[in-house]
Amino acid sequence: MRDGSASHFMASRSTAVRYGLAVLGAGILGLFLATVAIGQSTEKEAPPPGFDYWQPEWMVRELWGPGRMPKSMMARLLRHTTFVNLGVPKEYEDATSPLTPSPEVIQRGGQVYVEHCTRCHGAKGMGDGDAGMAVSPSPALLAYMIRKPVSVDEYLLWTISDGGKQFNTDMPAYRGILSRADIWHVIAYMRAGFPRIPAAAKAGDGEGDQNAD
Ligand code: HEC
Repeated sequence: MRDGSASHFMASRSTAVRYGLAVLGAGILGLFLATVAIGQSTEKEAPPPGFDYWQPEWMVRELWGPGRMPKSMMARLLRHTTFVNLGVPKEYEDATSPLTPSPEVIQRGGQVYVEHCTRCHGAKGMGDGDAGMAVSPSPALLAYMIRKPVSVDEYLLWTISDGGKQFNTDMPAYRGILSRADIWHVIAYMRAGFPRIPAAAKAGDGEGDQNAD
């Protein structure tokens, strides 16, 4: 009797254990499947870190950088950033104009300007010379840039001497065409605000009336 009840007890216990294991097994399997399912669904739907619903990835663009800049703008920017980051070639480093502005200096600088620069940069430095219409990027607006902090002596000397070859622009290199003294004179003229040069009226070839206003 005692034995019988013991074996009955054992039998029912082992059934219960087996049943319990089965439930546990099913539970673990279910949990595993659920985890996989959740894992997959989060992989697909969760936005990447930093995701902005108001500006999804396909709308995100660089606001300022050469990537989206028109080519002509890039050339100008390149000249300026090259100067800011790398400075000028050794031969122009720390160069300073030896000139003190005077009517004579400005007059001579004006003659250089009319002869060499007006055709592109325009009589008043507004970038509207006839030849300038045909080049891209267009000639710089010297009337404005000459008053900006970038227009220091070594920058202007470098730009006018070496031109735009390294930036793929049509700004000619005046080294070998103008003396360094001529370049300082034309810089003085621009800094004086592109005043009318009376003698330049005799320059002929249509540029004579360039300063008429
Ligand atoms: C064939 C047309 C042409 C002629 C002639 C020309 N330039 Fe330019 N110049 C350009 C163009 C185009 C640019 C703009 C691209 C660049 O910076 O290289 C420029 C840029 C410049 C810049 C740089 C402006 C800036 O924002 O940094 C200076 C300074 C300048 N020119 C001065 C002169 C002077 C001075 C002369 C005359 C001695 C002259 N240029 C003659 C076409 C010309």
